[in-house]
Amino acid sequence: MQAAAQLREPFTWPSNGVVRAPFRLFSDPEIYALEQERIFRGPVWSFLCLEVEIPDPGDYRTTTVGETPVVVTRDHDGAIHAMVNRCAHKGALVCLKKKDNVASLSCVYHAWNYDLDGRLRGVAFRNGIRGQGGMPSDFEPKDHRLEPLKVETFCGMVFGTFCDDVAPVESYLGPEMAQFITRNLGRPLRILGTHSQIIHNNWKLYVENLRDSYHATLLHTFYTTFKVNRLDMDGGIVLSDRKWHHISFARRANMTEAAEYRESKVHSASYDSALAGPALLKSWDEFDDGITHSIQTIFPNLCVQFTLNSLAIRFFAPRGVDKTELFWIYLGYERDSEEQSQMRVLQSNLTGAAGLVSLEDGCINEFVQRGTKTSPQAASFLEMGGREVRSEKNSRATEAAVRGFWHGYRGIMGF
Ligand SMILES: [Fe+2]
Repeated sequence: MQAAAQLREPFTWPSNGVVRAPFRLFSDPEIYALEQERIFRGPVWSFLCLEVEIPDPGDYRTTTVGETPVVVTRDHDGAIHAMVNRCAHKGALVCLKKKDNVASLSCVYHAWNYDLDGRLRGVAFRNGIRGQGGMPSDFEPKDHRLEPLKVETFCGMVFGTFCDDVAPVESYLGPEMAQFITRNLGRPLRILGTHSQIIHNNWKLYVENLRDSYHATLLHTFYTTFKVNRLDMDGGIVLSDRKWHHISFARRANMTEAAEYRESKVHSASYDSALAGPALLKSWDEFDDGITHSIQTIFPNLCVQFTLNSLAIRFFAPRGVDKTELFWIYLGYERDSEEQSQMRVLQSNLTGAAGLVSLEDGCINEFVQRGTKTSPQAASFLEMGGREVRSEKNSRATEAAVRGFWHGYRGIMGF
């Protein structure tokens, strides 16, 4: 309860536990600031980038961990490093582009220069000009490096952490999560496209949204109308061993139409529509497990999704208590044929900022933000599927994964 005590206004979680999430969590700047320290600088692995984004020596890619700017580099020996993108002199951003290829890292402000592993190698006018000025004689470049993060890669993804005391990435994921990531990403990847969007809500509302299998076929009419994903398909929820991460999966071929869709007045269930471009949903079986739709989340802010043949990574970064930047990376495999790549690109229209099944998420979380910000003492009701926090191998009419996130969040925040 240490963290709760640090707040000027004490925070107490409702006695019934993770079946309630107090709305204050989405709008309190003090809690937001504490999350930067406890979560994003705490015992988690944050997704930084893909290895294929920095394939060559000298490549860098900038990103953020929480709100902290970070740069990921590949050095001249091929090793990957990550550092806070903040000059050791005055604190200016060092790398200003999203991506570049450079011999070393140089701050534009006073030309302090760093090796690709973040060690300071040159300070302009260190010995002054014509013997006048300059740094004191006891100045030690080795004491002034870019702040490093610990880095590990898994299935082509680069992860970083500020915490010395966190298990290796594969243990952090746990066996079931690691196995499913390997299913989806465990071969050479090819980036098909990227984009990002700003959503006007607290980052944890997007966390909940990704873990919320209950909403998917209600809010997203395309899923239901065109039978891409429905809760009356064979499917379930898998929580990781510590409940922090999850997989939601469905098998499109195994669907028995449930009366509940009509009885609950799910508006899209009665649509009688046909696609003008049916090629959009033309797909091939990639795996022998029959799974045609999956959403996998990794605590705190990573998602790997595979719908039909559309593979994408989403990650999101807080940009203030009520603002979040959401990044999309669309992927295929190096081994794909041209036709397969084209099919993946076509199906990528399902997701993204204007995606046929994700466009609604760009505003629904803002609706929650707007609905809750003046009611910090009230709380959401998260009892769909019961009050337990456990895997549901045969149902996705549950909020078990949302409860799983709050279970992890409470532990790490000390709430
Ligand atoms: Fe959604």
